[in-house]
Amino acid sequence: MTPAGVATDPRAPQRGGRFPPGFVWGAATAAYQIEGAVREDGRGESIWDRFSHTPGKTAGGATGDVACDHYHRWPTDLALLRQLGLSAYRFSVAWPRVLPAGRGRPNAAGLDFYERLVDALLAAGLTPWITLYHWDLPQALEDAGGWPARATAEAFAAYVDVVSRRLGDRVCHWITLNEPWCSAFLGYYRAEHAPGRACLADALQAAHTLLLAHGLAVQVLRANCPRALVGIALNLSPAYPASARPADQAAAQRWDGHTNRWFLDPLYGRGYPADLLALYGPSAPRVRAADFDCIAVRTDFLGINYYTPAFVRDAPEGAPLRVEHVRLPQGEYTASGWLVYPQGLYDLLQQVHRAVGRTSPAAPVGALYLTESGAAYADPPPRAGRVSDPQRIRYHAVHLASARRAIAHGVPLRGYFVWSLLDNFEWARGYTLRFGLVYVDYATQQRVIKDSGWWYRRVSVRNALIPPTAHAGTARSL
Ligand code: FCB
Repeated sequence: MTPAGVATDPRAPQRGGRFPPGFVWGAATAAYQIEGAVREDGRGESIWDRFSHTPGKTAGGATGDVACDHYHRWPTDLALLRQLGLSAYRFSVAWPRVLPAGRGRPNAAGLDFYERLVDALLAAGLTPWITLYHWDLPQALEDAGGWPARATAEAFAAYVDVVSRRLGDRVCHWITLNEPWCSAFLGYYRAEHAPGRACLADALQAAHTLLLAHGLAVQVLRANCPRALVGIALNLSPAYPASARPADQAAAQRWDGHTNRWFLDPLYGRGYPADLLALYGPSAPRVRAADFDCIAVRTDFLGINYYTPAFVRDAPEGAPLRVEHVRLPQGEYTASGWLVYPQGLYDLLQQVHRAVGRTSPAAPVGALYLTESGAAYADPPPRAGRVSDPQRIRYHAVHLASARRAIAHGVPLRGYFVWSLLDNFEWARGYTLRFGLVYVDYATQQRVIKDSGWWYRRVSVRNALIPPTAHAGTARSL
């Protein structure tokens, strides 16, 4: 069991658009966004079931009840991964499928489902990368206080124990949490995501419990699968001032603190950033001294989910952060309204490498993976078995070019996971945004590989950046 991409020298010069040997090419999904079958085989209710069934919370009242029906169609989806020539598949385990009430007795059928999937992936030569938490907290735990409650971290560790005892002999890539910033701030402060609460102190306490949950989970994973590589996936985004005004520069620093440093600093042994603690004042989380040792536990890699940067200006009235996001007049935006800015990926990789890299001559260089990268566009429906999505090809091509440049300049980036394998339930935006390499017709559940999927296949198989123009018309050829 040699984890792919570990022994690679990231600085080795690579010719012809090539990536370092062993670079991981994958695609990512999340349980609630694709599985459906929410009431089958003993699955319990999650906060996303409750939230999406609450009127007014998601676009068009969409829910994940059916989604891509992946729970029943996973063999088809596995065949798609093979057709795409990928080496890795990142998916999440639904906590309420494994422990319907969040803690207590495991649900055998839930564990069996993931075991079948893992075994089939391995038999097909694909490396499973498991995310243990991608936002679907069991509703029973939310009812008991949710992420702001410290006991939720302990419940998470117990759940991780159940999953890793079952799959730890076969799975050697584990991601504890996906984007704790979103769980905490979208879920408990902005009320845009489940569970839909709106209290800054709760959100900050939730972020703290999530970090603690990560630390506890790493210890469990080390015990149950000693050879595994373990990390966390953060949504990180470089913050730029909208002008050279000192007030805007300070706003960019605050946003960087709120989204990036608030997580990176404690994970890498620096505790919470003092400037943000001052800003949050009485809303700052209650912590115990030993928490920071637990949170800063050694990991093997950091997963970065990058989509877009933040251009911000000072907004004196917007307490506590006093930051306003700015739309660039000349900017190119995706269907989700996110700026396409590949330089942001380069800058972010450099920033993160500096923040998590070698901390002493003896410490290993922190390996980085892009655990999500992707874009939503208004794809046309399939015509004659083809979906033309040139903008998405371009999006990935320019971001991969930035990634390559960062690698050439010493950043130990070891893999790239496209968000997403399939078009799917995009949280509060419902089914209005398509991110997939594969088009899903939700009425018939038919899947069609988009042009971007065929292009990405060539990238993955050749381990090299294929220029977007070289692709046109020859979708299927290698
Ligand atoms: C990320 C989430 C993922 C998906 C993409 C578009 O923040 O991790 O589930 O929604 O955004």
